Amino acid sequence: MELLLAPSLLAADFANLQRDIELVNASDADWFHLDVMDGVFVPNISFGMPVIEAIARHATKPLDVHLMIVDPDRYIQTFADLGADVLTVHVEACTHLHRTLQAIRAAGMKAGVALNPHTPVSVLEDVLTELDLVCLMSVNPGFGGQKFIERTYEKTRALRSMMAAAGVRAHIEIDGGVNAANAATLHAAGADVLVAGSSTFNAEDPHAAIRAMKGMAVA
Ligand code: DX5
Ligand code: ZN
Repeated sequence: MELLLAPSLLAADFANLQRDIELVNASDADWFHLDVMDGVFVPNISFGMPVIEAIARHATKPLDVHLMIVDPDRYIQTFADLGADVLTVHVEACTHLHRTLQAIRAAGMKAGVALNPHTPVSVLEDVLTELDLVCLMSVNPGFGGQKFIERTYEKTRALRSMMAAAGVRAHIEIDGGVNAANAATLHAAGADVLVAGSSTFNAEDPHAAIRAMKGMAVA
């Protein structure tokens, strides 16, 4: 599957958000990854609706919204109205995941489920046909700039085989600690969306960093 790169704006300069959004617009990146944190599901608070509304006014690529919040069902329609293309909820935050995924699709978005590092992929066995994306957290959610958890390679392969056995071709997204050194291995393991915060925005040349992670020739 074609490899998509989704820079996370969590690592952008919030005082120069429009500049960083335009950087992504003009780059070879494919999606915007937006991390919403509530200080309850994860220990950090990031940004919410007014900021996403402002981002949506400038972004020219799909918005991939990653909700790290408890009880995400409360806000499904809100994020649809804000222009989210993909809405990802955490399996650990959903009591009725099947219903939540159906509600996300019914609101016109792609339905995503994120798994914390400790959550086995087998938890998704009975909802594989209800989802469009699985986000494997390769760090514990809450902060950018953390070290990639190596176990993610094995998990990616296991999830891709589980999907293949069920005849499902959903996206597998990897989130946390992604860089040019692990991107190709993750793609080979079956991932097709890579989130990259620090390795995009802290790079000396973000355009080159994006191309390198996508396995494209760097000019
Ligand atoms: C972490 C977020 C990630 C984060 C990734 O909780 O879900 O999307 O921005 O940041 P890096 O790429 O710096 O690990
Ligand atoms: Zn994320």
